Amino acid sequence: MNIHAPPFGAYRAVKAHHFLRDSDLSADELRSLLDLARRVKIQPELYRDALRHRAVALLFEKPSLRTRMTIELAALQLGGFGVFQDHRDGRIGEREPARDIARNLDRWFDAIVARTYSHKTLESLAAWSKVPVINALSESYHPCQALADFLTVLEVYGSFEGLKMAYVGDGNNVAHSLMHSAAQLGVSISICSPAGYGPRPDDLALARAAAARSGSAVEVVSDIWEAVDGAAAVYTDVWTSMGWEDETQQRRIAFSDYQVTDEVMAAARDGAVFMHCLPALRGQEVSDSVIESAQSVVFDQAENRLHAHKALLLMMLGGS
Ligand code: CP
Ligand code: NVA
Repeated sequence: MNIHAPPFGAYRAVKAHHFLRDSDLSADELRSLLDLARRVKIQPELYRDALRHRAVALLFEKPSLRTRMTIELAALQLGGFGVFQDHRDGRIGEREPARDIARNLDRWFDAIVARTYSHKTLESLAAWSKVPVINALSESYHPCQALADFLTVLEVYGSFEGLKMAYVGDGNNVAHSLMHSAAQLGVSISICSPAGYGPRPDDLALARAAAARSGSAVEVVSDIWEAVDGAAAVYTDVWTSMGWEDETQQRRIAFSDYQVTDEVMAAARDGAVFMHCLPALRGQEVSDSVIESAQSVVFDQAENRLHAHKALLLMMLGGS
């Protein structure tokens, strides 16, 4: 990748007003964002005033370590700041409708970052907000996570050319975002989930259409060994996502053959990396030995949440 001096002036370079799902960015925009994230990571001091005095509102219905910390820190290190409102005791829209919340916040803030149970809550905020709304995780997607994930893959391999990724586990928000971003970037992805827990058919169709354009493939397989064969990265996530706790027991049974173990990693491409968005449940979706191994890049992914968020804020808000 060509790393060059940052262009001064407006960074705003995305057509979409909001970032609710991965496909809100075109393939070119996604590549530009990753390029900017690499530049910001290498020379953070060049960007320390890029979003001077810009304010970001954070509304979270669910817990968070990485997403909240790195969005707030990204805004701060770009010269702006974040104001957090904890919605864990009541969903957004309960005290007053999302359309009213959006029309208050857009009078005070330059962006709204929200983590919600229902993706529709984000869509309502976006429909009524004059400032960009950014998805910090919903039941359907986790697009900010995928930005950091592909930044990490790019750092490890230098390019996306000819890469295959395997995702083993629940066809959840993280899986959907990985699948959409992989398809945009030309990375083939093989998803292996227990019957009834695969990615949503409409998302699969959309990702396959993007993969056809980028010359990659999105496949769903039932055999874990087939999924990881030739994979340069093996990714997994928790079997029970936030909001699905009632199903914990039945999911433990359904996913019991879907742990990423040393044997699974040995069946992937030589030197394959292990990836996880975190938090992880060792002994469930991943063994302790794999997550603690030299192949594990989980803390690089976590670090890259910061750099990816900086690039996203710059591109959505148009820093200078
Ligand atoms: N990966 C991730 O989104 O972590 P948090 O839930 O801690 O934000
Ligand atoms: N799929 C997980 C991701 C957590 C970052 C969840 O939604 O709980």
